[in-house]
Amino acid sequence: MIIRARSSPVNYRVVAILVSLLLPAQAIGCTNGNRASDQPLVTTTTQSTQATTTTTTSPPNCDDASICTTRQLADAAGVTFGTAVAAAHLDETDYRTTLLTTFNSVTPENELKWASVHPAPNTWNFGPADKIIDFAKTNNLQVKGHNLIWDQEFVDSTPDWVLAIDDPTQLRSAATDHIRTVMRHYRGAVDRWDVVNEPLQTLGADLYDNHFRQVLGDSYIAEMFAIAHDADPTARLFLNEATVELLPDKAAALVALVKDLVDQGAPIDGVGIQAHLVAGTIDAVAVRRLIDDLEGLGVEVAITELDVPTFTGADPLATQADTYSQALGVCLDANCREVTLWGFTDRYTWIDAMFGPGRAPLPFDRYYRPKPALTAIRERLSATAE
Ligand code: G3I
Repeated sequence: MIIRARSSPVNYRVVAILVSLLLPAQAIGCTNGNRASDQPLVTTTTQSTQATTTTTTSPPNCDDASICTTRQLADAAGVTFGTAVAAAHLDETDYRTTLLTTFNSVTPENELKWASVHPAPNTWNFGPADKIIDFAKTNNLQVKGHNLIWDQEFVDSTPDWVLAIDDPTQLRSAATDHIRTVMRHYRGAVDRWDVVNEPLQTLGADLYDNHFRQVLGDSYIAEMFAIAHDADPTARLFLNEATVELLPDKAAALVALVKDLVDQGAPIDGVGIQAHLVAGTIDAVAVRRLIDDLEGLGVEVAITELDVPTFTGADPLATQADTYSQALGVCLDANCREVTLWGFTDRYTWIDAMFGPGRAPLPFDRYYRPKPALTAIRERLSATAE
């Protein structure tokens, strides 16, 4: 019987507590003790910095960036500029309209996770993800599949029926069935997949002692990539990791892990750096070094889950904008051509559950008004298009 011991005593909640202790809270938009959720942000950019033109049949000339939507700027720059999306919000007009004029790629936030799409051995729940992928097809959006394998303490991404499988042969068979069925269901519609999410400890440099590692051994990562490649040889396969922007030892461990996978011939095409940042804390030199080291191994690098919660400071939205600008800049300057945000409106963000409401981590406020961060993003995309 495998005991689900955990070598990494840390998880996001601890990270959140650590960060919130480091940066005394001063949530944006809280007035007279009211929560931001009830108040419009008082320091939001009023003028729209986003053209309202809808997508035309032939892309416009974006030399004058002001006439182009952010999506058109991304297209002109040859950048995959995406966002996490939730099927539940696609029927909301403001959500849909802002999404379509800003991004050319989407990532289902939760709908493709094992517990959502395959909640029981012979039960498949493709409906929510189908809604997103059908929407993407209709609107000519790329889709990033997220994620095939992810198990960590306090994360409900892997269903209990899988966590109960302690036999290596049976777990390998379950993972093979899951990966093949999901990838083949979306073959041709999903061109990139996060095969293994966060295989390293949240704040450490060793492999996370998750269920797959406990039962299958350290080689589970390479095994999952081989299964995914066999399932859809046309898909680009990514390993996706968090907090490597903040932790040099973990960044080095990621490079070593990817080198090991490449050296053993694992079919890995890319690495996602999630970039869940905190306003004002990016070490652009270290992130550039990490991207260069990973690209030096022959894999592509993408920023996959960028968001920038705000805390203290004289002008938090300006600091946030600068952090978005630096994140895009370090990626685009290093020839990475994919930047995906983890949501786009402060109305819907996982950060609220993690750090509490009012951190305003995204480029549109809760009323879909552009913030200085969007201006910074547009400037980076425009500069890349030149
Ligand atoms: O859909 C159910 C709902 O029916 C139920 O009433 C509710 C309360 O139990 O839970 C809802 O599911 C929640 C789901 O988000 C949708 O809101 C899950 O409990 C909750 O665990 C899940 O959190 C997601 C988290 O990953 C864990 O899967 C966050 O939305 C999502 O933003 C977050 O994203 C992760 C990436 O996948 C990997 N990188 C880190 C990133 C942030 O943690």
